[in-house]
Amino acid sequence: MCGIFGYIGNRNAPEIIHQGLKRLEYRGYDSWGISIIEKGKIKTVKDVGHIPSILQKELKSNIGIGHTRWATHGGVTITNAHPHLCSDKRFVLAQNGIVENYSNLKKDLEKKGFVFKTQVDTEVIVKLIELNLRSKISLKESLIKSFKQLEGRNTVILLDSKENKILAIRNGSPLILGVNKDEVFLASDPLAFNHCTQNIVEINNGELIEIDNGNYKIFDIKSKKEIKRKPKEEKLLNIDIDKGGYDHYMLKEIVQQQHTILNATSYSQKELKPLIDRIKNSKNIYTIGAGTAAYAGDQVCYYLRNIAHRNAISIRSYETESFLNVIDKNDIVIAFSQSGETADTLEAIEILKQKGVYICSVINMPGSTLSRLSDIFFMSNAGSEICVASTKVFTSQVSFGYLLSKSLINEYSLAKKELVSLSTSLESYFNAILFKKVKDISSKLKNKEHFFILGKGQNYHIAQEGALKIKEISYKHFEGFAAGELKHGVIALIERGTPVISIISEDINSKDLISATYEVKARGALTIGIGDKQFEKEKSFDYFIPCADTNELKGIANVIPFQLISYYLAKALGNSIDKPRNLAKSVTVK
Ligand code: F6R
Repeated sequence: MCGIFGYIGNRNAPEIIHQGLKRLEYRGYDSWGISIIEKGKIKTVKDVGHIPSILQKELKSNIGIGHTRWATHGGVTITNAHPHLCSDKRFVLAQNGIVENYSNLKKDLEKKGFVFKTQVDTEVIVKLIELNLRSKISLKESLIKSFKQLEGRNTVILLDSKENKILAIRNGSPLILGVNKDEVFLASDPLAFNHCTQNIVEINNGELIEIDNGNYKIFDIKSKKEIKRKPKEEKLLNIDIDKGGYDHYMLKEIVQQQHTILNATSYSQKELKPLIDRIKNSKNIYTIGAGTAAYAGDQVCYYLRNIAHRNAISIRSYETESFLNVIDKNDIVIAFSQSGETADTLEAIEILKQKGVYICSVINMPGSTLSRLSDIFFMSNAGSEICVASTKVFTSQVSFGYLLSKSLINEYSLAKKELVSLSTSLESYFNAILFKKVKDISSKLKNKEHFFILGKGQNYHIAQEGALKIKEISYKHFEGFAAGELKHGVIALIERGTPVISIISEDINSKDLISATYEVKARGALTIGIGDKQFEKEKSFDYFIPCADTNELKGIANVIPFQLISYYLAKALGNSIDKPRNLAKSVTVK
């Protein structure tokens, strides 16, 4: 949800900002802009669409800011692209977030004679600063005063041509400093500058940063007092961002799962003990997440209930409110988040913390806000996941939940064996024959519009996650259902040629899945089975994709063909795979 970047130092700022924005592009890619100071004046380049691989315009400066946008208020136009210039051209400003009281502020400003040129909420911030400057306070004071008038989670960065400095202020949306001798970087994510420095300074909500001459100062915006905070070296920032020989990050990340399920579960029993002890002393376990992370939570709850016999309930972050009357400090919450910056999840966690609930989180981004809000956190260790659609982080989260559930019944070592065995079978699973099979089936699905996925028990949430994955990149209507739901309404949607995918494992539900498949087949559906190899010859399926061998981790093995269908279907349709339309990797607005 928008990426912010700032730089002051002895390198050419436009180039550094351009590289930084490219690395932040996963946060939003509908338009972008770079502003620098040249001979005391602000110069800006902006455009709509993806950030080009080379900056056309020759710009030279040692100071500047940049922004990559995921539109909230106002369409995708060059005028609406950030940064936004103030009336007397002294400063430009870029924002990440949503000004929730935008309409009221805009009305007030219009009454005072301000004329708006864009449709973006950011312009309200620019005009508020201009208004506050009229009372002869400094730009820094005016920024603080204006920022305090904003509602919502916002982070802004400002380039001041008069004093040749950058100011930034954080509330909610992420912001982090990177520091070298004589140069300072500022970004929404350390991935943007980790190729230049691994010395970072974390910035908290309610803090303002002032950077000039390659030095930074941090201030608390309430007390206005300076906070001394030294950089720390973050080795984990050595993030790998190449495609490793694949055409797309998505395929690379799908194949990496043979390793990432082990990385996510590399924790020793000693490391897990504080969480295990806490769960043993808790009444209920709640998982929290949004989108794919919520489906991971669903699957982990399935393991906690069925393996560890614990009362585990999965909550969508944005629906936490309806659980607030029943969750209390005797419960434990486990939040799942790849980015650790999802606004819905952070807001839920902030509320639950106030109720004294113990918070554990499982995150993939080092130094993220969620890790700092949690009583205990575990890294998914999946490495950078660049494709917007989450694949390897989903299976990492589920693997962690499985290890946790088995550890609760003293079967830590058995769980480790099972994970190694799945990892080994995945090594040979990803091969040209499988890819061709999925590609062929996907090309047959290309012209269909509506698809249904049926799952039951351990495969119910996999059906839902599978549908989400395919929707995101193919833009086709996929729905994942509990197979049991079919007869209660869904079957009305089946007509001749409707594709229905059944997830089938050798378990107590296999007979029900076969019956459900016959029921849709009798109504003309095109049937596809995904699951254990022994069902390959099952007559109810028109096509079948076998999954990797595993005893207890069928949920993980069975989601992989859906990730591959998503990839090959999108490819057959000519869609943008790593950066699907309308989406962004990190959803930092509500
Ligand atoms: C889907 C996907 C999203 C995220 C969701 C939460 O492929 O990636 O549904 O899972 O936006 O994001 P995180 O995990 O960063 O909290």
